[in-house]
Amino acid sequence: MAIDLLKMKKILIRNDKKYYWNEGDLHTESGVIKEEDLKKAVKTVKAHSGKELFVAPALFIDKIEKIKRDPQAMMEKDIAVILTYTSIDKDSIVLEAGTGSGKLTSFLARNVKKVYSYEKNNDNINLARKNLEFLNINNVEIKNKDIYEGIDEEELDLIVLDLPMPWKAAKYCYDSLKQGAFLVSYLPSITQVVEFMDEIRRYDFLVIKTVELIEREWIVEGQRTRPKSSLQHTAFLTFVRKL
Ligand SMILES: C[S@@+](CC[C@H](N)C(=O)[O-])C[C@H]1O[C@@H](n2cnc3c(N)ncnc32)[C@H](O)[C@@H]1O
Repeated sequence: MAIDLLKMKKILIRNDKKYYWNEGDLHTESGVIKEEDLKKAVKTVKAHSGKELFVAPALFIDKIEKIKRDPQAMMEKDIAVILTYTSIDKDSIVLEAGTGSGKLTSFLARNVKKVYSYEKNNDNINLARKNLEFLNINNVEIKNKDIYEGIDEEELDLIVLDLPMPWKAAKYCYDSLKQGAFLVSYLPSITQVVEFMDEIRRYDFLVIKTVELIEREWIVEGQRTRPKSSLQHTAFLTFVRKL
């Protein structure tokens, strides 16, 4: 059944399977669920097979799982520390580069007043715009710009760089940030971090820290508990502040 993602209303979960429902009958691995049952379902609903599925309204986190994303889209664990350590709030004006599929963009946008997002690849711009529309986000301005050539905005509350050579934008970031505001880089390799830091030290930035976030999910079933996932490196996050 084709699901209109723009009007998605509920999620249904059984074991590790998650389904999105907007209208019509829903075909799942547990069997077909009738539209009339789905409409009135609150906590659970039964498929024709008799199997029960958990039902809840679709939240932002459910919707973001449905967007088409770049394989290099930032992971939630890394986005979380950017949101918490940089003190951004509903009055903040922030800038990021590059946009990619717009995943970090959308988390930023939900927490701040305005996001400027620089991206040099047109296909990614189109993908990110579609994703933001699907997520109902309208406080983002995507610019088809190479950030290594400069930044138009001033007095920014945060800049996040998720691209291969952030050191090339360090001076522009320094000039465009408010005093005390954070610049964050997201880099997969430590040699890139070293190169970034060499450049950062040429300006009046206060170095806060470089962190690697490791998330390990656990399965907890009574007395049988065990790690579900192996520990995986994604990237190093470096936090500096304009003095
Ligand atoms: C790893 S992806 C960003 C993923 C994004 N943060 C997300 O969560 O979906 C890096 C992006 O940076 C863009 N990019 C690379 N160099 C750039 C530059 N100099 N200026 C603007 N965008 C750039 C690439 O086209 C790519 O889309």
